[in-house]
This record gives sequence, structure tokens and C-alpha cells, in this order.
Amino acid sequence: MKLSDKIIFGGDYNPEQWRETPEIWDEDMRLMRLARWNEATVGVFSFAELEPEEGVFDFSVTDAIFEKAEKNGVKIILSTPSGAMPRWMAEKYPEILRTLEDRRKAVYGRRENHCYTSPVYREKVAEIDRKLSERYGRHPALLAWHISNEFNGECHCPLCREAFCAFLEKKYGTIDRLNAEWWTRFWSHRANSFSEIEPPSSIGETCVHGLTLDWKRFVTAQTADFARVEIEAVRAFSDRPVTTNLMGFYTGLDYRELSRPFDFVSWDNYPDWGKPEGDEGTAAWIALTHDLMRSMKRENFLLMESTPSHTNWKDINKLYRPGMMRLASLQALAHGSESVQYFQWRKSRGSSEKMHGAVVDHYGREDTRVFSEVAALGEELERLSPLVGSTLRPRVAMIYDWDNVWALQDLQGMQKKNKQVASTLLRQYLPFWRAGISCDIIGRRESFEGYSLLVAPMTYLCEEETAKRLAGFVREGGTLVATYTLAQTNENDLCHLGGFPGAGLCEVFGLRAEELDTLYPEERVEISALGGSYRAKDYCEVLKPHADTEILGEYRGEFYAGTPCLTAHAYGKGKAYYIAFRDADGAFSEAFYRRLMRELSLESPLPEIPDGVSVQVRENEKGEKFFFLLNFSRKEKRLSLGEGFTLLRTGEPLAEAVLPPYGAEVLRK
Ligand code: GLA
Ligand code: ZN
Repeated sequence: MKLSDKIIFGGDYNPEQWRETPEIWDEDMRLMRLARWNEATVGVFSFAELEPEEGVFDFSVTDAIFEKAEKNGVKIILSTPSGAMPRWMAEKYPEILRTLEDRRKAVYGRRENHCYTSPVYREKVAEIDRKLSERYGRHPALLAWHISNEFNGECHCPLCREAFCAFLEKKYGTIDRLNAEWWTRFWSHRANSFSEIEPPSSIGETCVHGLTLDWKRFVTAQTADFARVEIEAVRAFSDRPVTTNLMGFYTGLDYRELSRPFDFVSWDNYPDWGKPEGDEGTAAWIALTHDLMRSMKRENFLLMESTPSHTNWKDINKLYRPGMMRLASLQALAHGSESVQYFQWRKSRGSSEKMHGAVVDHYGREDTRVFSEVAALGEELERLSPLVGSTLRPRVAMIYDWDNVWALQDLQGMQKKNKQVASTLLRQYLPFWRAGISCDIIGRRESFEGYSLLVAPMTYLCEEETAKRLAGFVREGGTLVATYTLAQTNENDLCHLGGFPGAGLCEVFGLRAEELDTLYPEERVEISALGGSYRAKDYCEVLKPHADTEILGEYRGEFYAGTPCLTAHAYGKGKAYYIAFRDADGAFSEAFYRRLMRELSLESPLPEIPDGVSVQVRENEKGEKFFFLLNFSRKEKRLSLGEGFTLLRTGEPLAEAVLPPYGAEVLRK
């Protein structure tokens, strides 16, 4: 993925809001030059500007901006406007408005709430997209296409229901097959034909888990199908790459599926920096999210949006402290971003985002703290351009799947509202993040090639084929770590018979997980493992190990005291570890994974990484390495480096790095 020789620096720009005062556009250009912006994302919500009345088109604002941007060395990422429909369109074609899950019909308002099945909306969107493509698709200033905005949500209208039934028919072929896979004899929910199926609803079906899963898969497929219509339309006259802006761990859509038709991944990042307890937790969570986004295509990505100063839609919208915006921006680059982009260039005067942080305030001039920090970063990024073309090459992969999250969310059992798949993933990820060892976050159905360690946290949904591939990975010499709830159901959420972990994985792990105990939130169970004492919370599985299974830890409390809670099993040329409990505070995970890192010779990039500091390494094809040192703590930190390091922004050699609070540096070696 290479869009530019520079690090892309820019963000959302809404000049149409200043249509009556075009002198502001010229001031914008002056300020963009000062801030060293080389990119602007335009048109995200321009539908009613571009087509003010049906069939009446007006490209004057976009024309003017393309011209001004080009003159000022600013490239454009042009958005299709489908994220917000014009009022006239909803009035004339009410079918484009969504039907909510409780079957109420929405009225006009807000955004990102069109019916993604409606042929009328698809036609209207394709028409404007084609026109944009024809007009700007080969423009020298056009860098890429931004399709719609933050696809999200569901529609339950009759058109969507019909499309869902067709989706099911295609998947299952016969209604008998569907009934079998959905286990519909339960509560007499058998269907006689595909057309009888209703999407899930709080006033209707919530209990057929296969149905809920397929519905969510359908919502993703239909959203991707809508996106394909748009991609095809912009490709009519343009060969520039296409993306859409994702939202990290958003659970409504399977992002791995959604990103397939796109050329590259981009995402919008709005962390809660500045929490009273410190920023390390937030930093690790965001690191993980960047890794998830990069792993989607195993390629670098764009940080499409971030705020230069604060948000306005959270409960608490704290200002980013001086240095934090730079630190967070460098963190994105550290995990494979090719850009630093903001929402937004200039604050709007009215409506719901008028108080959202922006590069240019209502005040309108450049002598503000935020503008100065942005401009300083712009200048620094120009000096960091050797980074372009480098990326991360992890040997560790962790498994995370959206359908697995959906299945666990829906599962009646355990702590009903506390399945926490993503935070369980984070628990496994943290020791690697602290050690500066990078990880990919991949889907269970993706290739495991090239990894020496695979971690499968709460991989509850696991079909035969995946189980076979996991077994093959270990047999060929890989190390696999799995946790409680592994392989309990297949891809349609039917339980595996014959013992958990199912589909043959008992043989790989050398055990059977017989029961899963759910604790009250405040309860803890003592365990001893790897020569230390630790505590479990929430979940403890009771294991029946095979004779040749190594016991590395045991429960010390409850009726299962003295039974194993941590095991290792040699299988083929590799090894499979099983963690049967939820680590209460991270101490166990830290000890366990540190030991594994030593065993597998997964080395930290620097001998000593102080607490609160993250180190990430990007590498290019010439074998040059770029070390990111990121201090998320509120204290000064020192790192001794050794030979051969230079500061990328100045070229001067460096043997020790001194990072002030929230300080960060990029080094070359
Ligand atoms: C999202 C949207 C933007 C804007 C920002 C505000 O990411 O894509 O249009 O609303 O949030 O933080
Ligand atoms: Zn619909």
C-alpha cells in the first residue's frame, strides 16, 4: 500500500458549509500551507450540495476546492456522499429510510441511516458517484476515494427482509437444511419456506442463535454489496484506490468481510486520552486496534480521522494535553499508518459538531495552541518521510472474529453481559505490547503461515475446517495458546458433540474441558502456576487432562482445587497451551507470556523498556529499521539504545533517549 511518497497529513474538510463566504476558502488554503497539510478529505456530507433538487447538479464548490487545493499542493481524498441523504430524496422516496429493529419506520434526520437494500437509494447514489468519477476521477489532485462514511447499523424493512430470505436460500439451498442448522425444533420454530423467515427483533425472534448470526452476516454482506455498487460507480472513470473509514472494534459489521472490496483500510480513532488513572491502558487498547486494522489486509492503513484536541460526542470531552496529539499521531504511524488525518479542519458554526475539536477554531486564526501543535507536527512529518514503504512484520498472531463475538454476545449463559471477548484479547496482547513485540490480529479462517505463535482467546465459534488448520499449525511446529470456551460450537453456533474443545481439538490440547464455572463479579479463585500464585475471576473451566499432558498450573480453591488450570501438550512438532480461567489482574498473563517469549526467542527490540513506554519497529525492504519510542506516562523516561541509532527527524546519532512526559521519538537503525 503506497499512496504517496510523503506521510499523508490532512483530514476532513467541509468547505460547503462556508459557501456564502468563499474568502474563508482562501484563508483555509493559507492556513493549510502553514500547517503543512498535504491532503484534504472532501465531500463526505455533500449530497444536498451536489444535487440540491432531483436531477439538478451543482459541482461548483467541489470544482473550486479541487482547483485551490491543487494550486496549494493539497491532494484530495474525495468522498462519495451516500453517508447522508438529502431531505428531498427521503421525502420523495420514503423507502430509502430505515426500518428499525422494532419495526418502526424512521423519519428523516441524522446520517448513515439509509436502507442499504433499497434499489432507489442505490441508483441515486450510483448516479452521483458516477458523475463525481467522470468529473474528478482522473484529476491530478485526486489521491483516493472515500466511500460513504462509517458504514453502520441495520435496516429491517420489507426489502431487507426479502434480501435476507434470498441470502439464506443461497446459503442453505433447502429449508430442511436451514432448520437443521438453526435447530428449529426447539420451541417449535420450524420454517416451511424461506419466505417465512423474519429478521430478529426485540418484538419477535431473539432465541434462534443461528438466525441472529446469519442476520448479522447478512447485514455485513448487504452493506458490502452496497459498497460494491459505489465502488463500481467511482471506477467508471477512475483508477484511484478506494477505501472506507472503519471504527476499530465496532461490533455491528464484520470488518474483515466489509473491507474485502476495498483497496486499503482506513479508520477513525477517538481515544479517551487523559483519564485520571493514566494513559497506559488507553494506549494499549489503541495499539491493539491499530494492529487489528493493519492486519485486515496485512498492509499499512490510513488514520482517516482523529481529533487534534478533543471530541464533543462523549460523556466527558477532555482536552488533549500538550504533546498528546503528537504522541497519538506517532503511535498510529508506529503501528503501520501512512497518514495522520484529523476530523476536522475548521469548526462548523452550527449543528451538533460545532464544539468538536478542529485545527482551526471559531476564532479563525493560527495563533492557538492546537494550530501550533498541528503545524509543528506537519513540519516534523515531512522529516519522517523515510518511513513510507516500511511496515511491521509480526511473528505472533492473535485470533479475533466478529461472528465469534456475536455468538458469544447472544449466548445465554456464563455472565450474561460479561463475555468480553475484546478485553480478553487485550489481556493476551498486553505482555507483547509491553515487550515491544508486534502482533497481527487475524481471523480464524485466514492463513497462519509465517507465525511461530498463535493465540486464540475465547475462540468459541470454531468449525471443523478451522480446528483442522489449528491442529496442522501445531503439528508443523507452531505454538498455539487457547483459552476457556475454545471450540464449543461450529460456524452456525451448533454445539460440537463429543467433548470441548470440539472438532478434534481435545487431541491437540490433550484434555477435555468438562465444565465451565461462572463466578460472581467480586469472587476470586486462587491458582498456583509456573511457580507463582495468581487469581482467577469470572470463569474457571474444569479440565480432564490426558495422561501425556503437562500440568503447569492448578486451582487452589473451590471444589476443583487441585485440578489443572494451565496445561501444555506436545502435538506433532509443536505445542498447545490451554488457559482454563480468566486472569483477574494481568499478573498471570504477564508471567506466562514472558516465559513463552523466552522459549520461542521472541525478543524485545530494546534491552530495557520502562513502564508506560511502548516500542514498535517498522522495517523496509532495504532492511532499515525505524524504532518508535512512545512515552504514555506522565513521567520522564530514559532508554539506553546502544550502537547505530540516529534520530530520524534530525539525523543526529543517539545512544540514550530521554522522553519527557507524553514524549515520543522515531529512530533509524
Ligand atoms: C466520526 C465521523 C465524523 C465526525 C467525527 C466526530 O468519526 O466520521 O464525520 O462526526 O466522528 O468525532
Ligand atoms: Zn431496508
